Amino acid sequence: MSSKEQPAKELYIIPHEHKITGEDRMRRKGHRPLLIWFTGLSGSGKSTLSGLLEQELFRRNTHTYLLDGDNVRKGLNKDLGFSRECRTENIRRIGEAARLMLDAGLVVLAAFVSPIRKDRETVRELVGPERFLEVFVDCPLEVCEERDVKGLYKKARDGKIADFTGISAPFEAPENPDVHIRTHETSLEVSLNELIQAVLPKIKL
Ligand code: ADX
Repeated sequence: MSSKEQPAKELYIIPHEHKITGEDRMRRKGHRPLLIWFTGLSGSGKSTLSGLLEQELFRRNTHTYLLDGDNVRKGLNKDLGFSRECRTENIRRIGEAARLMLDAGLVVLAAFVSPIRKDRETVRELVGPERFLEVFVDCPLEVCEERDVKGLYKKARDGKIADFTGISAPFEAPENPDVHIRTHETSLEVSLNELIQAVLPKIKL
């Protein structure tokens, strides 16, 4: 029987025990790996905040990598749209990519709308809750719509984009995020400081 006819789970896949471990790579890097997960509406400020946090961590000699909609949806996930199923698959693949990066010893910043609570929880379980920090980038829909940096809210209101988060598709806000930033009422400086204070103890060796 060819592998095509056989469900993947029935294939004999036996991982090799490699000599260099995640622990070894962590020691070499000098800090713990961590996945910092930014969730929020389009235009809420995820890219701005995650970008600034990466710069600040990089300045402190942390080994970082930033995953966001632009670099993932134009490459790894360019075959996916915005249906519920596609969004779940988007987040699942990002979770798997992040897991590899954590194993490589990196501090990974992930900025995705990720509107489905269960999808975010699945990533948390996948990488291990101690290596996952959820940041809710909270901004009222009216403010995001007013900003409309990419002009997408107008298009969604005009019916030109289907399943648009906040307009015609749901956003399930985190119930108990590790960090809760209200971008419409907090300065970037204060928000960044709050993030740094939350991250540093988690990556300290
Ligand atoms: S997610 O819902 O699957 O997590 P992701 O973060 O990858 O979304 O991509 C969201 C970005 O794609 C938005 O910031 C916006 O620029 C763009 N986009 C295009 N169509 C949609 C849509 N229907 N809903 C939300 N965002 C969309």
